[in-house]
Amino acid sequence: MTAIVRTSQLTKVYGKAPSETRVLRGVDFELEAGKFACIMGPSGSGKSTLLHLISGLDEPSAGTVELGGKNVSRLSRRERTLQRRRTVGYVFQFFNLLPNLSVSENVGLPLAIAGRTRDVERDAVPPLLERFGITGRSAAFPHQLSGGEMQRTSIARALAGGQPLLLCDEPTGNLSQKAGLEVMQALREVCDRDGRSVLLVTHNPRDAAFADLVYFLVDGEISTERVLEGPGIEVEAVHEALAALHI
Ligand SMILES: Nc1ncnc2c1ncn2[C@@H]1O[C@H](COP(=O)(O)OP(=O)(O)O)[C@@H](O)[C@H]1O
Ligand SMILES: [Mg+2]
Repeated sequence: MTAIVRTSQLTKVYGKAPSETRVLRGVDFELEAGKFACIMGPSGSGKSTLLHLISGLDEPSAGTVELGGKNVSRLSRRERTLQRRRTVGYVFQFFNLLPNLSVSENVGLPLAIAGRTRDVERDAVPPLLERFGITGRSAAFPHQLSGGEMQRTSIARALAGGQPLLLCDEPTGNLSQKAGLEVMQALREVCDRDGRSVLLVTHNPRDAAFADLVYFLVDGEISTERVLEGPGIEVEAVHEALAALHI
């Protein structure tokens, strides 16, 4: 298998003894290219930390991360940033859209940053707006959007960047159930239709059920006791695994 992400004994400790917080204690994880995986864990279990380490936004205390076939833990800060830009699109709980740019400018931003011409941007952006149902909002600014529209804009932006991997950190955490469902369907399609890899972290069992594989973060490690494998993971099975693992 070709792994888009591989972590080995990934460890993160915040602070210094005696008041240190040991968040990740040796996470071994692989995501096969083209798959949609979910890592579940309660609030404070280290989900965001894990995504920060995988993307190279932060450095591990020990262990390694391979991202797109490169051991990012061995790269310089600058090379790591380049590998992240090349490989990762990020979808956040709080959207992280630029407030002074319109919807279409936000979606086109990765193209502008990559130095693509205005023509490319003009051709690439409208189909993405159309696909995510935000064409009518293209001139609006983020504060004028609903939560669902903001998140669909940020997924469109991640796709515009062309990176093979989408990292999603509680992407429905600020959405109504209906808007959250639409966002999860959009993410599922990003995997099925665009062939991108998706790594979702969440504490929401309904969201987890969209994945091909569901893992559980327990006491700083990925549980080997329970892994759910799709297609068609039942929400009930996710609840059952959470209960069995006491999380
Ligand atoms: N920059 C930081 N400095 C110190 N502690 C942190 C930092 N970031 C996160 N933590 C702590 O690490 C733990 C895991 O945080 P986080 O990865 O955000 O969990 P989750 O995303 O699962 O809610 C929490 O106890 C949190 O307080
Ligand atoms: Mg978090």
